Amino acid sequence: MAYNRDDYVRIKEEFSNKYAKAQKRAEVRRFELYGIIPELRELDGLLSGTGMEIMKIIASGEADPEKKIAELKERNAKIIEERRALLVKNGYAPDYTDVKYECEKCSDTGFDGTKMCECMKRELILAGYESSGIAELIRTQNFENFSLDYYADADNARMKGCVDMLKRFAKDFDSDTYCNFLMLGATGLGKTHLSSAVAKEVIDRGFDVLYVTSVGMTGDFEAERFGNSVGTRQRNKTSRYYEAELLIIDDLGTEVSNQFTLSCLYDVINTRINKRLCTFVNTNLTAKEIDARYSERITSRLFGEYNSIVFTGTDIRKQKRLNNRK
Ligand SMILES: Nc1ncnc2c1ncn2[C@@H]1O[C@H](COP(=O)(O)OP(=O)(O)O)[C@@H](O)[C@H]1O
Ligand SMILES: [Mg+2]
Ligand SMILES: [Zn+2]
Repeated sequence: MAYNRDDYVRIKEEFSNKYAKAQKRAEVRRFELYGIIPELRELDGLLSGTGMEIMKIIASGEADPEKKIAELKERNAKIIEERRALLVKNGYAPDYTDVKYECEKCSDTGFDGTKMCECMKRELILAGYESSGIAELIRTQNFENFSLDYYADADNARMKGCVDMLKRFAKDFDSDTYCNFLMLGATGLGKTHLSSAVAKEVIDRGFDVLYVTSVGMTGDFEAERFGNSVGTRQRNKTSRYYEAELLIIDDLGTEVSNQFTLSCLYDVINTRINKRLCTFVNTNLTAKEIDARYSERITSRLFGEYNSIVFTGTDIRKQKRLNNRK
């Protein structure tokens, strides 16, 4: 589990702030009440002095320090009861001055002991959807609404096999997973939909996923290389192509083809193979067209290191339109 690094840093900071705010709110409430119920301040004074008193007991060379400490604890329990009664008597809830956290389990620290709390995991997953670049698609195109009914006859059995394989890949995804997929097929057959479905599952498992079109990716490299504003944002943008635990490059073949874009594409594909990071490449091109368009060093990797999934059937967008008309 690695999550997106920027998301992690930001969310950890948010938890820190949340924790501090909860503390502050309780403190404000407590000081307000001191003005109204002065006895409260005295009781709190006694309670907050407990640590010092224990130190004193230990330092005094007392014959039976355990006993003294137990007495102190008993006294504190009584004070706490007294304090609660005092609040109630004045018309406040007995826990009015307690620190109220959004998450009781981790007291808004994001960690339950050394384990990350579920609440922080949830935040990271939501942030992961956003930083994947396909938050919108993930909401609407997932495994639940991916239907095999759109694939007829021979296409159906084969597509079922492919979908099952991708489901398994997503469900079992972990830091050791290394598997690349080349999804080929005409437009409207579900390549992007299935990529989005896989992305969601993998993000839900706590991994950093990035989706990009081939046009978007080469555009980012061009902006970084030739753009006027070579800011840190651009640099971060392309570095994620080499770091995301799952990268989906959609619509290969729609990018402008020149030496620069080809070398960027090669570099991302090759580096990710060397780092054993999973990559999906989707394309409307046929294998033959890929061969004609790209150099040997790219095609040998796409055909050698990727599992090809060929999508066949009838454009599902069209099928849906026809069904709606019926
Ligand atoms: N098997 C499917 N079940 C339900 N909807 C699908 C299926 N495959 C594709 N679609 C829908 O059809 C449209 C086109 O699919 P898409 O994945 O974009 O095709 P491709 O990327 O292969 O061109 C999208 O709206 C998608 O949600
Ligand atoms: Mg597509
Ligand atoms: Zn929590």
